[in-house]
Amino acid sequence: MIRSKYYLFSVISIFFLASCGADETVENEEVSNSDSLADFPIDYHSYSNVYDVYTSHLHLNINVDFDSKTISGWVDHDIVNKNGTNKMVFDINQLDIEKVLLEDSEETAFEIGEHDDLLGAPLTVDITPETKKVSIFFKTSPEANALQWLSNQQTAGKNNPYLFTQGQAILTRTWIPCQDTPGNRITYSADVQVPSQLMAVMSADNPTEKSADGKYHFEMDKPIPSYLIALAVGDLEFASLGDRTGVYAEPSMIDKCVYEFVDVEKMVIAAEELYGEYKWGRYDLIVLPPSFPFGGMENPKLTFATPTILAGDRSLVSLVAHELAHSWSGNLVTNATWDDFWLNEGFTVYFENRIMEQVYGKEYADMLMQIEYQGLEYENEDISAGEFPEDTHLKLDLEGRDPDEGMTAIAYVKGAFFLKTLEAKAGRETFDAFLNKYFADHEFQTLTTEDFVAYLEDNLLAPNDLEFNVDEWVYGKGIPDNCVKIESDKFAKVDEKCELITQVNSAKELEISEDWSTHEWLHFIRHIPGDADADDLAMLDAEFNFSDCGNSEIMAEWYVLSIKLGYDKINNPMREFLVNVGRRKFLQPIYTELAKSDSGLALAKDIYKDARPNYHSISYITIDEILGWES
Ligand code: BES
Ligand code: ZN
Repeated sequence: MIRSKYYLFSVISIFFLASCGADETVENEEVSNSDSLADFPIDYHSYSNVYDVYTSHLHLNINVDFDSKTISGWVDHDIVNKNGTNKMVFDINQLDIEKVLLEDSEETAFEIGEHDDLLGAPLTVDITPETKKVSIFFKTSPEANALQWLSNQQTAGKNNPYLFTQGQAILTRTWIPCQDTPGNRITYSADVQVPSQLMAVMSADNPTEKSADGKYHFEMDKPIPSYLIALAVGDLEFASLGDRTGVYAEPSMIDKCVYEFVDVEKMVIAAEELYGEYKWGRYDLIVLPPSFPFGGMENPKLTFATPTILAGDRSLVSLVAHELAHSWSGNLVTNATWDDFWLNEGFTVYFENRIMEQVYGKEYADMLMQIEYQGLEYENEDISAGEFPEDTHLKLDLEGRDPDEGMTAIAYVKGAFFLKTLEAKAGRETFDAFLNKYFADHEFQTLTTEDFVAYLEDNLLAPNDLEFNVDEWVYGKGIPDNCVKIESDKFAKVDEKCELITQVNSAKELEISEDWSTHEWLHFIRHIPGDADADDLAMLDAEFNFSDCGNSEIMAEWYVLSIKLGYDKINNPMREFLVNVGRRKFLQPIYTELAKSDSGLALAKDIYKDARPNYHSISYITIDEILGWES
């Protein structure tokens, strides 16, 4: 089937707009959240008919019940019916729909379409062209993919349960019936009832103290895509970090968090100096229990973060710079579909690195980028040899596939190197001016890759008379030849040490400086010579204790190499790591390496039976597949 990537105004809608009063058209435009509704891109990961009728504001009224592991209540949608349609389609997945009301009173008919394991089902509600409000009464399933319900045991404090949500990419529909596409933006508010000993926080204005009765009210008055609606509930405490920054965590973790995140306020200032005002008011973080499946999630006003970045020496805080950068790239200017994911992540990795350079200097920022580049080279080869080699294009085609499959180093690092290469071509000053204008011109809007390519041509390349192989970067495979190279003196010194590993009898002879950073150590582990064996690893471990060093990045890297080389002294600490930590980025390579041999697979399965109950569905779905696990 050949079809346009854009929904143009249909004949009917042109007829409708032409026939309604001028005032009405203006009013529609005023409440419109997206300037680009006329050419709304197809999002084949959503059933919603946002191009006809869309939500402008959503209000949640919910009760969080830990006994039944359900959220129940209703959601009010304030809607804008652009085309005078009689049907409004929402996305739902794993949700019970009890009833639907129009204008707070009248029950209306609805229909639930066929279920698809990936997308869920369309919920089609009968409305009229005059309908302004649709209220959907619903209840979540205990298995809802967006929700992770943690028992007391799975928290740091061990005395209270915990709940958090993860919406990106298409999971919000498993806890809120909504038009779950990044192409539409909504404001939202919420009334949330939780057990009175717990605090609730959202991607909105947040409390800093527990309420007496477990009732909380939230407002997010800036329009955001649905994947950024987020909630966490637990025994939380708040600590201030700066004028407009702070951190939430369980009480036993809060001091560690304050120490680790001392520079967050500085990062916000640096980001503003680079690309303009921070538009969201406060920037807070919440450090979640270790089962959180990601490193971080850029929920607006409140980044959700893994505790595995609490290295105790502030060495992993570039993750905060990354999630903060999303306040511009991603949250202010949003990818219109998941095929345009690199617009969120590539820009963010570039921006993250600029923040790190501003706060910690160029040498350090270059090391970080070099580490990223190594990951890109590896993954580029892996993807090129796999089932979907076109996944090395920045612009993806994920139709019929899980949008999570786009979460590779291509979107993140090839995307960032595209921008770095453009920067090198245009010069930093010109490029920064371009990016500033890009964020200002598109704030609170969504953008396709094609929109960006056109904008780049008109605002950077043509005015400065620059030739650039944009199409090769965006629509072509792999890493183009003109990709900028980064050199790092510090890594060159590490390389010298690596060469000696197989020649010395004791690791002491390597005379490694006491002040190596986490990233020098990572580079070191990655460049242990190919002819090293398990005895060499034992020698290094005896001196440097990588197996149990407490730095999650180093341990994860070390475990993968140790499995490869058959160094089995890691087995106990690795088991403990895998049972406690649910961050998919670490789990995936470790289990993959284990699954390569029969004995490794047996060990992996033995660990997994204890670990799986601690993992979020996002992680266990991935690991089930690696291990061929039948639950
Ligand atoms: N937005 C992503 C996380 C995400 C992407 C969740 C796609 C679901 C689908 C977040 O900003 C992110 O990139 N996190 C990274 C950390 C970062 C420092 C690269 C992660 O979790 O590893
Ligand atoms: Zn990101």
